[in-house]
Amino acid sequence: MSVLRIEGGRPLRGSVRVQGAKNGVLPILAATLLSGDVCLIHNCPRLTDVDIALDILRHLGCRAVREGECVIVDASCPTRWDIPDELMGRMRSSVFFLGPVLARMGACRLSYPGGCELGPRPIDLHLSALRALGAEIDEGHGRLECAGRLRGAEITLALPSVGATENAMMAAAAARGTTTIVNAAREPEIADLQGFLNAIGADVRGAGSSTIVVRGREDLHAGEYTVLGDRIAAATYLAAVASAGGEGEVTGVDWRHLSTVTAVLSEAGCLVYSSPSAIRIEVREPLRAVRPIRTAPYPGFPTDAQAIVMAALCKARGATVFAENIFDSRYRHVDDLVRMGADIKVEGRVAVVTGVEKLFGASVRAADLRGGAALAVAAVGAQGESVLSGLEHIDRGYADLAGALAALGADVRREEN
Ligand code: UD1
Repeated sequence: MSVLRIEGGRPLRGSVRVQGAKNGVLPILAATLLSGDVCLIHNCPRLTDVDIALDILRHLGCRAVREGECVIVDASCPTRWDIPDELMGRMRSSVFFLGPVLARMGACRLSYPGGCELGPRPIDLHLSALRALGAEIDEGHGRLECAGRLRGAEITLALPSVGATENAMMAAAAARGTTTIVNAAREPEIADLQGFLNAIGADVRGAGSSTIVVRGREDLHAGEYTVLGDRIAAATYLAAVASAGGEGEVTGVDWRHLSTVTAVLSEAGCLVYSSPSAIRIEVREPLRAVRPIRTAPYPGFPTDAQAIVMAALCKARGATVFAENIFDSRYRHVDDLVRMGADIKVEGRVAVVTGVEKLFGASVRAADLRGGAALAVAAVGAQGESVLSGLEHIDRGYADLAGALAALGADVRREEN
């Protein structure tokens, strides 16, 4: 079993460059299928979820190779339009392939991705968007059979789902006619997908706002694109400094994409300086509790940063209330934080964190990706050694969490057993 050994309790000092965004690169890799040609994707992080996306592309008949931080996908002659259960089961984001495979091949067969460690994760909005574009979708026995020639339509999403917005954009980019997506999600990764789609010849406008207009094109082509920096990885490293004290610098990310997170850290007493080239954080005194943190679609406070910021506030003076409004089961890190000495009470969607003077190192296990990162954040601020297992969750979204924390000055090493 691989573990991270973290000796915490001393201030950090260092600098780290963040990887390309997991949530940016996954839809972009699926969208390479639409190009019908060769795509170069730069700043492609080394994540197990990226490896699975590349395996899916290879299964579909594309060539996909990595050269350093660049991934080259040759999507000139895909041969299949099915995704086997084994690949679907390895990653929920495999549902991103539905729109592009359908648009490119005229059909798609895959198994229903089902629930995951965050609780039930329906895909009804993805399916209704594709149905609006003319897809016929047969759902039976946990499988989806989709077929149809797609044409532009007006799609109104019942809620601003990130994945449904992205699936609709990708399918519409290669459909006939114009599509308008109303109540679209506004996450920065959606603007990044728009950037990639336009780089391969698509005509997509409005990403980042609630209305996206896609004029379908048949002549998509080869392209080159650099994935944006990972705002949640950046939030993790800033939270690590907030947890341990000291000072640190994070580069390779647009500070505007995590302004709700840095606002909370500032309110807690951290000194945060944001500039186009770097975000710097200094933590000179014990943190204090902040006003209630409610997760919300972008530009609200990100659900993906909830656990991470909670870990940093475990020692803040006073009580902080968290309300998780996006996913049902997103407090799975709490029991392990309590094992480390935190005082946290959960009631449904609400968690109340009452600051304690110290946290103590413990053996803890990541139950999901961001919850696992939160345990690492707590561990760098805890007295003594923590041993963190469940790294398979963390490796889905962090290219090298141990290396990044070490670059910030933490005493952390990874043991592969
Ligand atoms: C994406 C991110 C994930 C992040 C989440 C919310 C990727 C690869 N993942 O996930 O890291 O935590 O956004 O910011 O980008 N919903 C439905 N029906 C649907 C789709 C979603 O009811 O068809 C619900 C979900 O259950 C959830 C909410 O909508 O309660 C938001 O989910 P969504 O924005 O779709 O998240 P993902 O795209 O899965």
